[in-house]
Amino acid sequence: MEIVICIGSGCHLKGSKEVQEKIRAFIEEKGLEKEVFLKASFCRGNCRNGVSMSIDGEEVLNVSPENIEKILLEYL
Ligand code: FES
Repeated sequence: MEIVICIGSGCHLKGSKEVQEKIRAFIEEKGLEKEVFLKASFCRGNCRNGVSMSIDGEEVLNVSPENIEKILLEYL
């Protein structure tokens, strides 16, 4: 599984760094290092809907540091 998260300035302001840290912690905590790969991208042209993120190419909307764990539990 591949998670791509935007680290462009718009998403940075919405907490993409914190989202990344929470994803890394989640992967480590669940022992998913060999199954889930986290990648970064620059602006994905989707700055309006929270932090821009995709999971296996599927856009996930309204991602924030507050809801990322819930989203991960739904997808993983
Ligand atoms: S800065 Fe993240 S989608 Fe534009």
